Amino acid sequence: MCGIVGHLGPSDSVEVVMEGLRRLEYRGYDSAGVTFINESGELKTYKKTGKIEKLTELISNVDTHSMVSIGHTRWATHGGVTDFNSHPHAFEKLSMVHNGIIENADELRDELIAKGYNFKSETDSEVFLMLVNDLKKSMPLKEAILKGFTRVTGNSAFVFISEEEKEIFAIKRAAPLVCGTHYTKSQAVVSSDPYALAGAADRIYFPEDGILCHLSVGNKELIAFYDSEGKPSKAYQSKKQDMQVDPSDKGDFEHYMLKEIYEQPGLIRALCQYYFNGDGKEALAAMADLNPSRFHITACGTAFYAGLVVRDFIEAINRIPCSFELASEFRYRNPILEKNDIGLFISQSGETADTLAGQEECKEQNAKTVSLVNVEGSSLYRACDHNLLIRAGVEIGVASTKAFTQMGLTGRLLAHALSGDLDNSVKQTELTDRFELLAERIDKLLEEVDKIKAIAEEIYNKKGYFFTGRGRYFPVALEGALKLKEIAYVHAEGYAAGELKHGPIALIDEDMVNIALVGPELKEKTISNIQEIKARKGIIVGIGPKDNSLMKISDYFLELNFDGLEELSPLYINVVNQLLSYYMAKFKGTDIDKPRNLAKSVTVE
Ligand code: F6R
Repeated sequence: MCGIVGHLGPSDSVEVVMEGLRRLEYRGYDSAGVTFINESGELKTYKKTGKIEKLTELISNVDTHSMVSIGHTRWATHGGVTDFNSHPHAFEKLSMVHNGIIENADELRDELIAKGYNFKSETDSEVFLMLVNDLKKSMPLKEAILKGFTRVTGNSAFVFISEEEKEIFAIKRAAPLVCGTHYTKSQAVVSSDPYALAGAADRIYFPEDGILCHLSVGNKELIAFYDSEGKPSKAYQSKKQDMQVDPSDKGDFEHYMLKEIYEQPGLIRALCQYYFNGDGKEALAAMADLNPSRFHITACGTAFYAGLVVRDFIEAINRIPCSFELASEFRYRNPILEKNDIGLFISQSGETADTLAGQEECKEQNAKTVSLVNVEGSSLYRACDHNLLIRAGVEIGVASTKAFTQMGLTGRLLAHALSGDLDNSVKQTELTDRFELLAERIDKLLEEVDKIKAIAEEIYNKKGYFFTGRGRYFPVALEGALKLKEIAYVHAEGYAAGELKHGPIALIDEDMVNIALVGPELKEKTISNIQEIKARKGIIVGIGPKDNSLMKISDYFLELNFDGLEELSPLYINVVNQLLSYYMAKFKGTDIDKPRNLAKSVTVE
């Protein structure tokens, strides 16, 4: 959940690291820090609670000229949000940043205290720094890290910088870590997220667990990899060429979230192109041979709700049963995986710890795994037997928007590919046209965004919110409520419209809002459910097709044109939810791109 960046190059190392940290701030924003080796060859560490601007202020009058540095943005796990607990942690000639949890930290700390070590922080991270420091007394740093790493349990990534070696070492277990080099800039970088490497590296490597990454000017390629015994090894090299794109620019948008909502029509249009005429062709074609008897769709949060949309597609088109599981529960339920069952894992980051654990469970039970994932080369991507990239581009807003839409659409392509009907150019054209129609409808929605903004202004200060929908609109009711909770800090629930009367209707009064998602299917039944809420004085926001009863019953109404969208219509209505949440949060004045307590990539269980 924390962001890590390390850099080694001819100059301005701290600048590269700070830029990387700014990009990764969405991962955690309790504190930030940096360690560099100054021109006199000494390690210097600066760290501060709060957002990166605080750190920028702290080092504004410091000479940060350096060729080697590491930095960190923290999402606190062990120890409060204090300067001492911030990273990097430094001791004598060594400094380190950490992302993850050391499960046996207490035991190791006691051992080190008994040897005379004093700890400055309450963190588990400092324990590994001290351990390596201790081992380093009797062996080179490289060996000390490898040996120390065998003693810590839990999922972690560590990056070290040493005053003596003036080099960087990094190692990880079940936590994201990516390295890269830039040939013309003669620099090497390491991070917890490929996004930090955009523009700074043109070769990207994803090391496996336990592989030590060594960034040094002494290495022929600036980076070398070693296995647990210290022997030269390799890392997966990404095929992705578009890491040059600088995605850090919000353009004219006030927030990344809004920018990402607006990117959706373009991404939708590009998806068919990628899978029918571009690099995705082969991966999609391979789906036709899978022949699963059941899918276990497993994911977290927004990706999980996208999984429900995908389930509806697969069950409707392929009549293959899908069970769906929250990744955090999946492996603890001792899931029944039968021969020919396939685990379908959905993730934007490809680094969500719970999702990765679910994938591992499938692997252990010899089930094939397929991912719908955004980050090529991520841990999930490397672990699965097959991958379909969702092609959402970099998503910075902590609240996921465009990834949801792309997951749904990639799932749609998967469903068609499974049935083998994508070999046929007529079907390809039909689908391309359907996707185009969705993109056009979203374009139109964005042109008329003021209507949504006006509704948001009327309802943002109410007591609570129920997003309701039936059938194919139920998953987006769940997703709509999640979005609103995340960024507007209000209580919202997603409910199947027909289920409200079985309990939650007790909550309805004149200060509760029902955001009723109504499509052409099950319209009459859904309107009856809205009547039940209206009868109890609930405030109705009707979102649906032109319909007299719906318009009459709604306190606020947004008309949508569903013609021709059919099964893609939940993805259309979901964009209304995204915009409604965005503007409600804006009226409330919350930190939309970095909502409190959240982190973009949840790499702890
Ligand atoms: C919600 C959100 C989270 C993620 C979840 C899974 O807006 O962003 O609920 O969807 O943490 O993350 P990924 O998709 O990276 O596995």
